Amino acid sequence: MFADTDLLPPDAILGLTKAFQDDTRESKIDLGVGVYRTVDGRTPVMQAVEKAQQLVINGETTKAYTPPEGAPGFAKAILESLLGADHSAVVSGRALAAQTPGGCGALRLAGELLTRTGARAITIGAPTWPNHKPLLNMSGMKIEMVPYYNQATCAVDFESFALELRKLGPKDVVLLHGCCHNPTGADLTNAQVDVVIEIALERGFLPMVDIAYHGFAKGLDEDAYIVRAMAERLPELLITYSCSKNFGLYRERTGAIIMVGADADRAVAMRSHVYNIARGMYSMPPAHGGAIVSEILRSEELADMWRTELAEMADNVRVNRRLLVESANKHGLGNRLAYIQEQYGMFSLLPMDEVEVAVMKSDFGIYMVGAGRINLCGITPANVDYLVQSLASVMQGKG
Ligand code: LMR
Repeated sequence: MFADTDLLPPDAILGLTKAFQDDTRESKIDLGVGVYRTVDGRTPVMQAVEKAQQLVINGETTKAYTPPEGAPGFAKAILESLLGADHSAVVSGRALAAQTPGGCGALRLAGELLTRTGARAITIGAPTWPNHKPLLNMSGMKIEMVPYYNQATCAVDFESFALELRKLGPKDVVLLHGCCHNPTGADLTNAQVDVVIEIALERGFLPMVDIAYHGFAKGLDEDAYIVRAMAERLPELLITYSCSKNFGLYRERTGAIIMVGADADRAVAMRSHVYNIARGMYSMPPAHGGAIVSEILRSEELADMWRTELAEMADNVRVNRRLLVESANKHGLGNRLAYIQEQYGMFSLLPMDEVEVAVMKSDFGIYMVGAGRINLCGITPANVDYLVQSLASVMQGKG
C-alpha cells in the first residue's frame, strides 16, 4: 500500500521547533512557533486555568460523550465573551457557537460547510498563516490570494485589498484576521473594517473572521470590533475562534465555530450541518479545554483573574516590541524597524527574503518562519542586541 509513499518535509512552523531544539549553539534564538513565552522562555499554565481545571476535575462525575456543541456552557460563554451578552445577534439567536478541536478544527469545519453549500472560492489577503491554505484546501475550497500587506512600506495596502474585494460576488467568501494579523501584525483599522462591511453589503460576499489572538492586540472589547460590527450589520458571518493563545490551552485543542445567520432559524440550520460534518470527521470535540473555559467565564472571580493575566501577557509582548525597536535604534536599523512598534500581537514580518531567513538560521542560530515572521515572545533583554546585530549584518546594504 505505501511502497511508493513519498516522504514529506516537516511542517513549515512546527518543524522549526524541532530544528531549534536540535541546535546546540548557546546563542540560538527561537522566534518561530506562535506560543506565548515569558522572559525565561516558559509557557506557564495560566493561574485562572489551573484553578478552573481543579474545579472541573473535582466536579467531574462521568466521562460519557459531550453533546455536539461541546462542554456544557462553553458555546454560550464564548458567544458572550466575544460578541457580548447584549449583542443583537446573540439576543435574537442569529449567532450560535459550537466547540471545535482548536481554531484549526473550526477552520476545517467552516471550509467543509462552505464547500457543501456551494461557495465559489475563498479570498485571502497575502501573506497569511501558512496553515490556512491546507485547512481550507483539504476541505475542498478553492483559495484565491489577493494583496493585503505591502512588504516595501511594512503596512496594509488597503487600497489594493479593497479593490479586489469589489470584484467579488455572493458566492464568494473572504477570510479576514480578527486581530493580531498572522504573520504581519498589521491589522485593519476600525475605519477600514467599516469599508469592508460596506463592500460586503454591496457585493454580497460572506466574510469569515479567524480570531486566534483575542485580547492580545488592544483588549478583549477593542479586538472584537470586527466581529461585533459585522455580526450587527451583515446578514451572515462565520467566525473561527481559538482558545490556544488567550487561555494558553494550546494542547487541549479548544476552539469554536460561530455561525451568524440571517435569522435564528438559518443559524440553527447552519449549525445542524456543522454538527453533521463534525460527526463525519471526529464525532464531537474533546471536553476538557471547553470545560475549563466555561468554568472560567461563568465565575466572576476566575474571569477577572483570566482577564488580568491575559492583559499582562499582551503587555509583555508590547514590551518586547519596544525592546526590539530600541535596540534597532542603537544599531542603525531604527528607520527600518520602527513600524514594529505600531503593530499588534505576537508577530511581525521582518523586511527579509527566504534566503536571508535561511542565513539567520544557519549562521546565527536565529529561527524565524518563512519570509521573516518573528514571534516577539522570543525576544529578551539578554538576546535582543545579538538579534539586531545579526539582522544588521544580514540586511547590510539593503534599502
Ligand atoms: C503559529 O502561527 O505559529 C501558531 O498558530 C501555531 C501553528 O499551529 O502554526
